[in-house]
Parts: sequence; C-alpha cells; structure tokens
Amino acid sequence: MDAPSWAEAVSRMRSCTRCSLAEGRRNVVVYRGSPSPWVVFLGEAPGAKEDELGRPFVGRAGRLLDAAIETLAIPEDSYGITNVIMCRPPGNVFDPEAARACRPWLDLKLELLSPKIVVTLGSSALHALDPAAGPLARLSGETREWSGGTLFPLLHPAATFHRRAYREQWDRDVARLKDLLPQWIPAGTKGEPAGALLTPV
Ligand code: URA
Repeated sequence: MDAPSWAEAVSRMRSCTRCSLAEGRRNVVVYRGSPSPWVVFLGEAPGAKEDELGRPFVGRAGRLLDAAIETLAIPEDSYGITNVIMCRPPGNVFDPEAARACRPWLDLKLELLSPKIVVTLGSSALHALDPAAGPLARLSGETREWSGGTLFPLLHPAATFHRRAYREQWDRDVARLKDLLPQWIPAGTKGEPAGALLTPV
C-alpha cells in the first residue's frame, strides 16, 4: 500500500486511540517544523504546555532547544521537532506501553519526512530508535549509525536545568553537532545546507 500524504498521516494521528493516553489528552502533539527537514529532533513525550498548544517543545525545555537550533544556524525550512509519544503521559513520566503503541506513527513520520539526521533528546528517545545503544551519558555528542540512518544523541534539554554538569555537556555536544553538520549535509541537498551557512563566503 502507498504511504499516505503528510496531511493524511497527520489527520490519522490526530484521531489516534491506540493507547489509553488518548482519554486524558487535550491535543495529539504531532510535529512542528518543515515538511522536508534534513534534521529531525526527537524528544520523549509532550508536557503540559505542549498538550495545551498541540505543538512539541513549546515550554521551558523547548526554549533551550530553540536556542540550540539558533546556535546551530539551521534554517527554519530545514528542521523539524517531534516526540516518541504524541500524547501527554500522566505526571510526565515516559510510558513504554504508549511508546510501543505510538511506534508505527513515529516510523511513518520518519519515513515521510526522511531526514538525513535524527538528533535524539534524552535516553528514551535514543533507545526508542536504537535499543542496543549503551548509556546515553557515554554516547551523547557522538554520531551513531542505525538501521534508519544517522543518529546524534543529545541529553534531554530538561535534564540540564538541575545539574550544571549536564548543562556543560549539553553545550559541548551542541558545539560538536555544529562542527559536524556541514560534513553530513552536502551542499545542494535538502533545504538550505548547513555548510553554506557555516562557511564564510
Ligand atoms: N519534553 C519532551 O520530551 N517533549 C516535549 O515536547 C516537551 C518536553
């Protein structure tokens, strides 16, 4: 069967009842960003603000993520943001059952968006895509190949609010991602290539 269009897929996702989180949600938080991104940032699950507004990473963690995206100089039309789980779990606790139920949607989003790189945010996002990966603390800031392409694991931005060492690691990893972006995105591929922005003309 042919893959649905993005609009059709979003409409199906918005009416999803595959798990019990459907009962308590205000919105299905599908995605924000470009319809043809070369980088997708993958978080864990929506929080209260995201549930209210129906958009991923629009609270405090989102502000740190947006600041990192600005540091990375990724143009608006070249990135997108989504989560492993699209409905808010009670108490904001990552729910593996909901992640399993949501998995076909995640796979469909990645298939339709077909990014060159997926930047995972936090351990649950990394291990959702690469279950065999070791501990995030050891792997963050290092490129990884996985069955779906290239991964770049980062800490979850919310983790940085409570520990200075995590904030330092976040800043180091974002700087490393900035160095690596041009080699992954050859000029003239999708959107405005990062290399063109990072190389002085
Ligand atoms: N944390 C996440 O993992 N995702 C969001 O959308 C917001 C906070």
